[in-house]
Amino acid sequence: MADRPYTLLSCAMSLDGYLDDASDQRLILSNDADFDRVDEVRAGCDAILVGAATVRNDNPRLVVRSGARVADRERRGLTPTPIKVTVTERAKLDAHAAFFEVGETEKLVYCTSDTVDEARSAFGPVATVIDSGSSVTMRGLSEDLYSRGVRRLMVEGGETVLTQFLAEDLADELHLVVAPFFVGDCQAPRLVRDGRFPWHPGRRAALLEARPVEDVVLLRYALSPRCSD
Ligand SMILES: NC(=O)c1ccc[n+]([C@@H]2O[C@H](COP(=O)([O-])OP(=O)(O)OC[C@H]3O[C@@H](n4cnc5c(N)ncnc54)[C@H](OP(=O)(O)O)[C@@H]3O)[C@@H](O)[C@H]2O)c1
Repeated sequence: MADRPYTLLSCAMSLDGYLDDASDQRLILSNDADFDRVDEVRAGCDAILVGAATVRNDNPRLVVRSGARVADRERRGLTPTPIKVTVTERAKLDAHAAFFEVGETEKLVYCTSDTVDEARSAFGPVATVIDSGSSVTMRGLSEDLYSRGVRRLMVEGGETVLTQFLAEDLADELHLVVAPFFVGDCQAPRLVRDGRFPWHPGRRAALLEARPVEDVVLLRYALSPRCSD
């Protein structure tokens, strides 16, 4: 099996397990103290991945915000912020999205052969478009990232992407933040879709930490033997 980066999944959900509500507005689940914690985790990674729907819906910047952390990365010979990565089948992304425009780092778009020409003409000037063949698998994407020097990958959602990493047993660590309210709308995206996951009543994940961060709780789980603390 080819090597893949150490992979850390990071997301926030409501008490009833939703990643967002069903509106067009981004739902803020976390708080400032937790955003700062996430910033520190980002600063320690080589690449950050989100699905194309998250790029479209939330227009996230996905950059390290703290000047001190940026300076520390630069001292270590790294780019100010990790490589940004997304995956798309349809290649319908706005080339002016913050994903492409913000942050001095490489942007990678994984897509299928069917849409690679469309993707290259739309984002070729602002990103590297990678043809993943007839379908993009998270294992193939992970191995390709490894071949590009990515050793630590942070996956920040959304539901579809998290489901694939978990169901394909490609995650080493999970950082799950629980916000103190309910969404209560089954039209909204959940933490994961239906699937067969490697962790079930007969194989429980190892809880590493449960830490209050102001009004949210961070749950850290080890999902593979590669996760040691
Ligand atoms: N609370 C949190 O921590 C958090 C974090 C991130 C996102 N979110 C929320 O999650 C929601 C989005 O979740 P989502 O499940 O709808 O979308 P998503 O996982 O962000 O992206 C799904 C899209 O990614 C592309 N994709 C995924 N797997 C692919 C594959 N194997 N091959 C090719 N393309 C693939 C497809 O893009 P195309 O449609 O372009 O083909 C697919 O529609 C948003 O509401 C966002 O706010 C919450």
